Amino acid sequence: MTINKNNPPPVALITGAARRIGAAIARMLHRNGYNIIIHYSSADNEAAQLADELNAARADSAHLEKMNLLDSAQLPALIASAAQRWQRLDALINNASSFYPTPVDEIKESDWENLVGTNLKAPLFLSQYAAPHLQATKGCIVNIVDIHAERPMRKHVVYSVAKAGLVALTKSLARELAPSVRVNAVAPGAILWPEQDMPASTKDSILQRVALQRPGEPDDIARTVNFLINDAPYITGQVIPVDGGRNLNI
Ligand SMILES: NC(=O)c1ccc[n+]([C@@H]2O[C@H](COP(=O)([O-])OP(=O)(O)OC[C@H]3O[C@@H](n4cnc5c(N)ncnc54)[C@H](OP(=O)(O)O)[C@@H]3O)[C@@H](O)[C@H]2O)c1
Repeated sequence: MTINKNNPPPVALITGAARRIGAAIARMLHRNGYNIIIHYSSADNEAAQLADELNAARADSAHLEKMNLLDSAQLPALIASAAQRWQRLDALINNASSFYPTPVDEIKESDWENLVGTNLKAPLFLSQYAAPHLQATKGCIVNIVDIHAERPMRKHVVYSVAKAGLVALTKSLARELAPSVRVNAVAPGAILWPEQDMPASTKDSILQRVALQRPGEPDDIARTVNFLINDAPYITGQVIPVDGGRNLNI
């Protein structure tokens, strides 16, 4: 998308944007001229600080939306409110995610509802409700998936299935919403370690399988999202791994 300073700024809704990778995406798109709808669920302080930071850099350029994405009855209101804030919506970035292990003999229906709810169901319905707004602006959707959508993560059956579904959703919606809306995905490798405890030995063994021998940074994901939105008018239905070469099967 070419941003013309005489036009009103384009608007991006980023789910789970208060912290970590979502916040890096918010800052990156904001630096590139977007007004940002910061969706979050529990991170009130981080969300408010990020909104203050963006609004200080450019007045009236960031807006907060708090919502538990598992409350699917509220999803239409999230999109309506986001699109209403500046009377347009140009990009939906489905970044929010729950993540925890579900060994096969311990999976409960509530795990399915939680992990599929955030990683697949919410992106599907947010995309459905956002589609008319994105069609009006020739906008796009970027889904944040995972390299483990392709090669499932041990002991993470439900999460891996949900992200695999999100890859399928990306390709399916790219087909359904073309030619007016592009839909792509970014598949991070090891970028930020999960906030739950992870032994140092596990981290070492993961990094040994990364060709570049180090974790990535949130900005590696943010730059790729920005590329797909602003600099890739002929790319749709693609999944771009950003994993330091982990998929080389080292
Ligand atoms: N970190 C990595 O190295 C890595 C690797 C592969 C893939 N990814 C993918 O990249 C994306 C960002 O990763 P991350 O590590 O930054 O994510 P994260 O910190 O695990 O989660 C991002 C946000 O999702 C929100 N969220 C979780 N459950 C929610 C719910 N029920 N309703 C609404 N929001 C909810 C949380 O918002 P609140 O904090 O406001 O509650 C959280 O801050 C995710 O899609 C993840 O699967 C990350």
